[in-house]
Amino acid sequence: MNTASAQEQLLSEQRAYYSALAPDYLDQLLDLPGGAETTEALDAFRPSGSVLELACGPGTWTPQLLRHAHEVTAVDVSPEMLASAARRVPDRAPVRFVEADLFVWEPDRRYDVVFMGCWLSHVPAGRFASFWSLVAAALAPHGRVFFVDDHYRTPEELVEGPASSTIQRRIPDGRAYRIVKVPYEPVELEGQLRELGWDITVTPTAGPFFWGAGHRTGECP
Ligand SMILES: C[S@@+](CC[C@H](N)C(=O)[O-])C[C@H]1O[C@@H](n2cnc3c(N)ncnc32)[C@H](O)[C@@H]1O
Repeated sequence: MNTASAQEQLLSEQRAYYSALAPDYLDQLLDLPGGAETTEALDAFRPSGSVLELACGPGTWTPQLLRHAHEVTAVDVSPEMLASAARRVPDRAPVRFVEADLFVWEPDRRYDVVFMGCWLSHVPAGRFASFWSLVAAALAPHGRVFFVDDHYRTPEELVEGPASSTIQRRIPDGRAYRIVKVPYEPVELEGQLRELGWDITVTPTAGPFFWGAGHRTGECP
């Protein structure tokens, strides 16, 4: 199998993993130091105006975004995740859910804020630059970006060794799936983003979580 189709297969397995995990996802969120800091950081950032939430999952962050935003567009590839997300937001909340694969989706408008919770680490390194082109295409002039992520990987998950960004995770019934998990270090990630034209400060927490907040280089929000 060539490299491109091997990666397509890995991304397909990643999609399948999250769809299968959807009913249990919120019960298995990482209860590790630093999680609360990321929540506080998002409130301090104040994601106001129109917000695009990429890979929203079961709406882990959507209600918090709605405390600040006047509207949210929440995109995820998994219909199971989107159904859970819809149940977590109040009726008639100003949210548009979009079912789409972020590796092919093109935004149909621009947003004041692009937000992603625990998504960037699931983007293969080879797609990092094109993914950030998508973020740029979705952002209004002087728009802002905020992400939360973690570099948590257990030794059992490292089925291809610690140098590989392909890991194996299991859903509660024991079924195993390979997914992408790039273990970003905040300082390195900040440098990678700077090279792509982003001025994003990536802040570590006491645990495996970190958050990034910023904008395009040279554009003051
Ligand atoms: C780690 S979860 C993050 C969910 C939520 N944002 C959070 O912070 O809890 C990753 C999410 O990415 C979604 N996903 C996986 N592959 C995707 C793709 N190619 N396009 C869009 N969403 C995808 C999964 O369905 C899942 O909801």
